[in-house]
This record gives sequence, structure tokens and C-alpha cells, in this order.
Amino acid sequence: MAVKTVERMKSGIEGFDDLCGGGFIRNRSYLVSGTSGAGKTIFALQFLYRGAVDYEDPGIFIATEERPEHIRENVANFGWDIEKLEEENMLAIVDASSAKIGLPSEEKFVDVRPFDTRSLIDNIITIQEEISARRAVLDSTTAIGFQIMNPSKIRVELLKIATTLEVLGLTSILTCEVVDEGHISRFGVENFVTEGTILLHYKRTENVRVRSLEIFKMRGTNHSTKLHPFDITNEGIVVHSQEEVYSMI
Ligand SMILES: Nc1ncnc2c1ncn2[C@@H]1O[C@H](COP(=O)(O)OP(=O)(O)O)[C@@H](O)[C@H]1O
Ligand SMILES: [Mg+2]
Repeated sequence: MAVKTVERMKSGIEGFDDLCGGGFIRNRSYLVSGTSGAGKTIFALQFLYRGAVDYEDPGIFIATEERPEHIRENVANFGWDIEKLEEENMLAIVDASSAKIGLPSEEKFVDVRPFDTRSLIDNIITIQEEISARRAVLDSTTAIGFQIMNPSKIRVELLKIATTLEVLGLTSILTCEVVDEGHISRFGVENFVTEGTILLHYKRTENVRVRSLEIFKMRGTNHSTKLHPFDITNEGIVVHSQEEVYSMI
């Protein structure tokens, strides 16, 4: 019997796929963790943007933290025309942030308050029927966690979301905001519902802050266990896969 090989999906993050056997395993979900400003949202959006532009993969972005209009503006710096992708049905943004703070939303896809997994999942299924996405992002699990608070319930709800994404044929990134370098997740459970965990470090050493990336866990993959420096350039994140950062933590 032939050994079954897994199908990989290019991340769209320059240098990253070299660290993990050619990319993400398809139809699985990955956690991207880091402190505020570490680059999680940019990493996740680049996965969707490059996925759509370079690999013709439609994507879904679930925004629980930032308002979609800010997301579009923030990445215009990188020359990423999000609105164009939305018009072409290559990207759908779910506004799960405006309702939360009681603001009306002019977005096409809006998730209601208070947070309800069923309603989010229904929303994702509806979008999926419309655009047949192959990539998805939930940015972030932390905002959802704060609406639930109970870690074992957070774990169950995130597992439902991650499993739904997998069943729908989506390869996905879930982001997680940690309070301190060295932490893997905020509520201690987010990393249990995903197949892999990527840590983005943004650590001060003497008078400079250095960005680095670490693959903490990736099931089914022979991955680097080192800290690799990365830059946020005018074109997005570039990981220096041949270089290492020492004594970060
Ligand atoms: N065009 C750019 N060039 C270089 N760095 C940028 C650019 N845009 C944003 N950044 C950096 O990225 C950070 C925000 O990244 P983001 O992905 O939003 O962080 P997180 O989601 O982890 O909080 C900013 O604080 C800034 O340091
Ligand atoms: Mg963010």
C-alpha cells in the first residue's frame, strides 16, 4: 500500500514554507500567537491576500477586533487592494467587531452580538456557499475568549469553529494575543484546538526590538525548532529562514 502523503498549501509568507516542509497541511488550522504589535494580523492577511492573488484561493477573514475599514486601510501600505478582491469574490470579511461595541455596520457580512458560535458558523457556511473559499482567518480567538471567559468553554467553542473550518475544506489561521513573551496562548487552551502553533516574538534586546518567528508545534511536519528573524517590509512579512536569533527569551 502506498504511503499517503499530505497535501501542502503555500503560506504566501516569504521564507516561511522553507521552515515546515513546504507549507501548511491543507484543511487544518493553525494558531498564530504573539503580543500586541507582533505582526499577527499582517501574517494572517498576507496568507489570504497572497493566497488569492498568487494561488487563486478565495479567503474568509473574520474580524473580531479591528473594524474592516481599518483593516483595508492598514494593508493598503503594502499595496494590497483588499476591496478589489472583495469585489471579485476572492475575499469576504465578516465584521464581528462593530456589533460587539454597539455600532451599526455597513459591511456585507456582519456577525451579531453577543458572541454566538452557531451564528458565526452559519455566517461562515453562507459565505462558503457564495465564494468556495479555501483559506480562512479568525482574528482573533482572544476577543472571543473574553466574551466567554471560561477556559473549558472557550476550548469547546474554538474546537467547534476549527472543526467547521476543516470540514468546509478550509486551511485556516486563528490568531491569539498573549500578554507576555514566552506565553503560547491567552487562556491556555487555544493551542489544543489547532494542528500547529506559530509564535511571533517582538522582543527588546538592548536598544532595539527584534522580530522573530518560531514554529512551536506542527503536527505531521518536520519543522524548524529555531527562532528565525523576520521583517515587515513594504510588501509584507519576509522570514529569514537561513538566519537564527539567539538568546531571545
Ligand atoms: N508598512 C509597514 N512597514 C513596516 N512595519 C509595519 C508596517 N505596517 C505595520 N507595521 C508594523 O506592524 C505592527 C502591527 O502589526 P499587526 O499585524 O497589526 O500586529 P498584531 O496583530 O500582532 O497586534 C505595527 O505596530 C508596525 O510595527
Ligand atoms: Mg491584530
